[in-house]
Amino acid sequence: MAGPRTEGFSFRVLATSGHARRTVLTTPHGEVDTPTFMPVGTQGSVKGLTPEEVAQTGARIVLGNTYHLWLRPGPDIVSKMKGLHGFSRWPHAMLTDSGGFQAFSLGANGGKKPGESLVKLDEQGVTFRSHLDGSKQHLSPEEAVRVQGLLGADIQMQLDICPPGDSPRPVVEAAVKQTTRWAKRALATPRPPKQALFGIIQGACFADLRRAHAEELAALDPGFDGLALGGFSVGEPIPKMYETLHEMAHLVDPERPRYLMGVGTPRDLLEGIDAGIDMFDCVLPTRNARNGQALTRFGRVVVKQARHREDERPIDPECTCPCCKGGYSRAYLRHLYIAGEMTVLRLLSVHNLHFYGELVAGARAAIQDGTWPAYKAAAIARMSSGED
Ligand code: GUN
Ligand code: ZN
Repeated sequence: MAGPRTEGFSFRVLATSGHARRTVLTTPHGEVDTPTFMPVGTQGSVKGLTPEEVAQTGARIVLGNTYHLWLRPGPDIVSKMKGLHGFSRWPHAMLTDSGGFQAFSLGANGGKKPGESLVKLDEQGVTFRSHLDGSKQHLSPEEAVRVQGLLGADIQMQLDICPPGDSPRPVVEAAVKQTTRWAKRALATPRPPKQALFGIIQGACFADLRRAHAEELAALDPGFDGLALGGFSVGEPIPKMYETLHEMAHLVDPERPRYLMGVGTPRDLLEGIDAGIDMFDCVLPTRNARNGQALTRFGRVVVKQARHREDERPIDPECTCPCCKGGYSRAYLRHLYIAGEMTVLRLLSVHNLHFYGELVAGARAAIQDGTWPAYKAAAIARMSSGED
C-alpha cells in the first residue's frame, strides 16, 4: 500500500453510480466537489476574467502552467508575491501542470527556423527553447517539483512524457517507463509540506499498458495524492479514447482522485465521468469563447453567423449565467464580435465556463440521487439535437 500522503489533503467518495463517482477533495484552499472542471489559467489568469468572475461560474479549482510562469515572470517573483494564490488573488484550490507537455507543444517551434524541433529528451529531463526568446531551458523531474514548489499551487503534477496519439507501441512503452522513473524522482524531491503531488499515467490507447502503469504508480511509496491520465486528446480517434477510458479508468486506485488531463468537450466530460474520472481541465470553453463560439445544452452557437443578426434571444434562455440572464441578445453579441469588441469575448467565456460548471454540478447531483445514466443520456441527446 502507498504510504503517508500530504498534510491538508483528504479525499472522500460520497456516492457512486456504475463507475461514476461523486467525491470531495479537501485542499488547503477549500473543498472541491467532484466531478469537477478546472478552467485553464495558463499565465496566472483565466483569459479575460477576474477570479471573482471565474468563481461565479461555479469553479473551485483552476489550473496554471509551470512552463509559462517559469519563463515569465519567473517562479522567484511569483514566490515573493505570496505564490500564485496571492499573486493572482484566486482564493480557491489551484493545480499546476509540470511543464513538459507545454515544452513539447510550444518549445518545439522556439527555434529560428519554422518547424525546427528543438525539444530534446534524455534520462535527465527535457531541453527546449523558450517560445518567448529562443533561450535554451532544461526541465528535470526535480526542477519541475522545485519550480512548482515556488509557484505554490495546492497540487503539483510530476514531469511526464506524452507521446503523440498515433505513436507505435514501443514508443509508448518507452514513454511509460520514462514517466515511471521520473515519478520516483519527483516523489523523492522535497516540496512544501502542504502541497500535493499527482502522478501521470501514460500508455496512449493501449489499455493494458495503462492498467499496468496505473498499478505501478499507485504502488509507489511514499505515494502520490492523486493519479492523472495524460496522453489523451492528442490526435487519437475520439471513440478510441472513450473505449480506452471505459476499459481502465475505473481500475485506477479508487482511494485517490482521478484526473483526465486536457480533456475536453462536454461529451468527453460525460464519457469521462461515466468511466470513473473525477477531474478535468481544458482550454476548450475559454478558447472557443474567444473564437466566437458558445457551447450550450443543445450544441454550439457560432455567434458571428448572419442568422443571429436580428435574433433577440440570449444564447440560451434557460442558462442562468450573467451573459444569458443579463439579457444580451444574440444580435448584440454578433455585432460586438464582428466589430471586434472584447466585451463579447468576456461574456462568452463566462457563459461557456458557466455551462461547464452546470454540466458537472448536474452530474454530481445525478450520481448522488441515482439518476446518472438518464442524466448522461439526456445531455448527449440534447447536445446532438442541434435545436436552439
Ligand atoms: N495536458 C494534457 N495532456 C497532458 C499530458 O499527457 N501530460 C501533461 N503533463 N499535461 C497534459
Ligand atoms: Zn449563458
